[in-house]
Amino acid sequence: MSSKDFLSISNLDSQRLYSLITSAVELKAEGWSSLLSEKTIALLFEHPSTRTRISFEMAMRQLGGHCIYLSPDEVGLGKRESVPDVAQVLSRCVNAIVARTLSHKTLDVLAENASVPVINALSDMEHPCQALADLLTIYEKKNMLEGITLAYVGDGNNVASSLVLATSLAGMNFRIASPPGYQISEEILHKAREYADETGSEIFCTEDPKEAVRGADVVYTDTWTSMGQEEEAEQRRRVFAGYQVNSQLLSLARGYAIMMHCLPAHHGEEVAENILYSPQSVVFDQAENRIYAQKALLAEMLGGLELPLANYH
Ligand code: CP
Ligand code: NVA
Repeated sequence: MSSKDFLSISNLDSQRLYSLITSAVELKAEGWSSLLSEKTIALLFEHPSTRTRISFEMAMRQLGGHCIYLSPDEVGLGKRESVPDVAQVLSRCVNAIVARTLSHKTLDVLAENASVPVINALSDMEHPCQALADLLTIYEKKNMLEGITLAYVGDGNNVASSLVLATSLAGMNFRIASPPGYQISEEILHKAREYADETGSEIFCTEDPKEAVRGADVVYTDTWTSMGQEEEAEQRRRVFAGYQVNSQLLSLARGYAIMMHCLPAHHGEEVAENILYSPQSVVFDQAENRIYAQKALLAEMLGGLELPLANYH
């Protein structure tokens, strides 16, 4: 990885992204090892987590390493102690910092002041580790990535932002349907369009969920109200009312389309319950694949693992 840190999918290029997916497939088949037996990472979380915490802990265990979890109340980032000081202290004690922060700016300050790698475990801007696991899951289900069309229905949030960057880097087509005022930021879209120009993929933004989903191979959704936006929940329920992924909407996708969600899901809001538990749903594969995508990332960043040459184009 050219950058010391992994704060954004834009820290990768197309070759690295494919190599990480290749490596994740291999590490999933390989099982446990002692590659990181002398390494310890800190999990520094300002928001709650189920999947991200457990998958980082399992990834490190499977690589022979260790994790120390620091809960939101324990550290008091920027309150009990300044962010630069926390970054320097952790750099003296552990080999990497995996951080979930309220604001992406906190991640930037951590990265600037830490001598060890900082990995984004979700911020208000991006969720890059989720996108890696999602591409691994799509590859497993579809046997390829290039040319696959992913339709995202809902909020242009952190998950959508990492997905548009990752899909365009991978040569996949990305379509998104979001209501006005809730689109992916122009800055992220601009970068994704640059990637899409290079890989020959397409990015299409609309307000109409049907237009986005028609003919898609993958239909993806996420919560309408992300962590930190709880006070807007009522208003968001009204704004996003027509953006539910349900049988009617999914029937417009290809017959063999898969349905994805990073979880946690809000049954009957962004996704109908029967769809969440339908054969088309791969949400629990995504959750499990967080382990293997992060194993590949950690093995490369901390274990000096040479990434395999990607052969999935
Ligand atoms: N998908 C995901 O990041 O889940 P958690 O918030 O439970 O970690
Ligand atoms: N967009 C969601 C993702 C949770 C994994 C949030 O930020 O809360």
